[in-house]
Amino acid sequence: MPASIKPESDRSDQSAVRIELWAEGDLPLLKKLLGDPAMTEHLGGPESDEQLANRHARYLRLVASGSDRVFKIIHQPTGESVGSVSYWERTWHGEQVYEIGWSVIPAFQGRGIARAATSLAIINARSDGKHRFLHAFPSVDNPPSNALCRSLGFTLIEECEFEYPAGSFMRCNDWCLDLSASS
Ligand SMILES: CC(C)(COP(=O)(O)OP(=O)(O)OC[C@H]1O[C@@H](n2cnc3c(N)ncnc32)[C@H](O)[C@@H]1OP(=O)(O)O)[C@@H](O)C(=O)NCCC(=O)NCCS
Repeated sequence: MPASIKPESDRSDQSAVRIELWAEGDLPLLKKLLGDPAMTEHLGGPESDEQLANRHARYLRLVASGSDRVFKIIHQPTGESVGSVSYWERTWHGEQVYEIGWSVIPAFQGRGIARAATSLAIINARSDGKHRFLHAFPSVDNPPSNALCRSLGFTLIEECEFEYPAGSFMRCNDWCLDLSASS
């Protein structure tokens, strides 16, 4: 079987992944996710070791404060940490909303892992009950992320100019999920 075709049983199997809050030992995972040029093609390019260390410390503070949620994704059959999914508060068009983002390392992509892990994060955001709307802003040039939004029931609002990272603007889709609607 070609390496790019994954067993059907791996796809969208929610029991194949779990999410856990970001923890002390997760800096190597962050390096694989945000220190890698291919992984950050739509995210402004790879971060330096110093930026990654600062981000890791920030994630730990956020987790400790309980405001925003940063999760690592664990692939249950292997026990490997294979990605992250996070949501945080932001102001969007004058309203407080959640924004969500995701990343899965290349060796584990295409198996439904982002979809399963993001479904779990959405359940979490819904039970937090703090904000009604959850937005995602994938680049218009990021087919898997846009497919993910569509298949998770987000509504496409519009294309917009989005600043990420600070000072750099890209063309994104604004997708929105109403957390108050029944799932
Ligand atoms: C985006 C990303 C997290 C997807 O992870 P993944 O585990 O491979 O995603 P899944 O296997 O759950 O697939 C999600 C959807 O994308 C689709 N998809 C996957 N690869 C695709 C591709 N190359 N083109 C089009 N659609 C694709 C899948 O079919 C699936 O859609 P479906 O649910 O309708 O079947 C992963 O590609 C990644 O980490 N990219 C780099 C970081 C990034 O860009 N993050 C997004 C910031 S908004």
